[in-house]
Amino acid sequence: MEGACPLITAHTKLLAVLGYPVRHSLSPLIHNAALRHDGLEYVYVALEVEPAALPAAVEGLRALRIRGANITVPHKQQAASLVDRLDPLAARLGAVNTVVNEEGVLVGHNTDVAGFRAALRTLVREGAQGRRCVVAGAGGAARAVVAALVEDQAAEIAVFNRTYLRAQALCEEAREWGGSKCEPIDEQGLASVGPDADIVINATSVGLDPAVKGGPFPVDIVRSHQVVMDLVYGPEPTGLVRRARTRGAAAVDGLEMLVMQAADSYALWTGRRPSVDVMKAALIQAGE
Ligand code: ATR
Repeated sequence: MEGACPLITAHTKLLAVLGYPVRHSLSPLIHNAALRHDGLEYVYVALEVEPAALPAAVEGLRALRIRGANITVPHKQQAASLVDRLDPLAARLGAVNTVVNEEGVLVGHNTDVAGFRAALRTLVREGAQGRRCVVAGAGGAARAVVAALVEDQAAEIAVFNRTYLRAQALCEEAREWGGSKCEPIDEQGLASVGPDADIVINATSVGLDPAVKGGPFPVDIVRSHQVVMDLVYGPEPTGLVRRARTRGAAAVDGLEMLVMQAADSYALWTGRRPSVDVMKAALIQAGE
């Protein structure tokens, strides 16, 4: 029966998301919907873990033989230093969003990068290749976005951030990741390169809290020819997505990336690709 609890037995395997805060997370909803659909005997729960408790929580994954976990805000970077091994991408980024417990060996992965690339491809088939991109933000989410744009061989990546020095540091690192030109920009730079960008991405947390006024960009750069992605999501389209659509631009919010990164984590834990349609249907049903 739709919405019913799966039958939990002594064989049920556990999956979790570790975050702080975590109660707003939609990951349990989408993973459990896919697990039920596939008839897999797992349950996925949200565990609120304060930063100081993360080492004990990660060690607990091993002790309790939990098959895997997602790691979310604010733990992605700390988790990279707590697992036993990192896959090459997670090592390069220094950020883990997925842990797989391989018979007691905790392996850190990062599915945010592939999740972002897949979400972008729902709007532009060839992704960011050869495109001019503007990214707002320089935190963990922005790192994954910039890494994805570099992998896609974007022509130019301009990073705007409230704290300019963080944008500068991210671009310095990104230049070591590949061939894309990556430059930090200030408000003046944003006003000059923003309107000509092909792809505009919000990777800040602005928009998450409706009480915070204004958008991620202090200058109005959205134009009809652009593709706009907001990593923030909520029950309603974000301000940036609404504005983009009003202008005639193609736009998606963070739900698309949420589902795409979740599908990759699920495949790492279960060895099976989930139905992204089932995951999306669970989100739609929950929003009704
Ligand atoms: P995450 O891992 O989710 O990216 P983070 O590392 O805390 O989280 O980064 C949050 C991003 O949102 C940063 O780019 C931050 O800008 P600063 O580097 O200046 O802190 C940005 N951000 C958060 N609140 C903001 C606000 N009110 N206005 C502008 N930028 C904001």
